[in-house]
Amino acid sequence: MNEAYDHILNRHSCRAYESIAVEHDKLEAIIKAGLHAPTAMNRQETHFTVVSGENLTRLINAVVEAILSGELYYSREIDASFRPHYDAPYLILVSAPTENPFSCQDCSCALENIFLAASALGLGSCWINIFLHACKTPSVRSIMTELGVPCGNTVYAGAAIGYPSDPLRIVEHDPNGRVVWS
Ligand SMILES: Cc1cc2nc3c(=O)[nH]c(=O)nc-3n(C[C@H](O)[C@H](O)[C@H](O)COP(=O)(O)O)c2cc1C
Repeated sequence: MNEAYDHILNRHSCRAYESIAVEHDKLEAIIKAGLHAPTAMNRQETHFTVVSGENLTRLINAVVEAILSGELYYSREIDASFRPHYDAPYLILVSAPTENPFSCQDCSCALENIFLAASALGLGSCWINIFLHACKTPSVRSIMTELGVPCGNTVYAGAAIGYPSDPLRIVEHDPNGRVVWS
């Protein structure tokens, strides 16, 4: 139909990344796409914390340690080599005020814009959910605060970003029973 529509249909979650840097202007463009997402009552309270390098390693290590110590629940057993973000070189923590009743919806809109922008720029991306729970885990939260996540915010997800190292796995999106025209 057109290029934007093609990216909606051809975006797929990326779970293997090159350990190379992403051009700064591409990261800026991705964040801009997140900032341009709709927000309820136009409150524009979504917040983006871009984490990379040693800070990202520190954050991920804290998440893994919290799971291993039992401080943070995870749905399956892991070991110290677990990397919830698939070792993507960048993680964008998308957060909004806990007291705003529409924060989850606002952050979800921002995340989808981020994923579509990443796809349009030739990058891989993936929603990483563990940060929703990790932001309520004191040992991880203190690092998030240090990295710039505002104190009163809930982190709804981390967006892993980077160049894909493997072809993206194509998931079929089945319309059966999911659409009614009336
Ligand atoms: C709310 C939500 C939470 C998700 N959490 C994770 C996650 O923690 N790790 C992961 O690899 N993918 C996660 N995903 C991505 C989904 O697994 C993925 O979108 C789905 O399998 C369809 O694949 P696609 O994105 O390639 O279309 C999440 C997606 C959503 C919307």
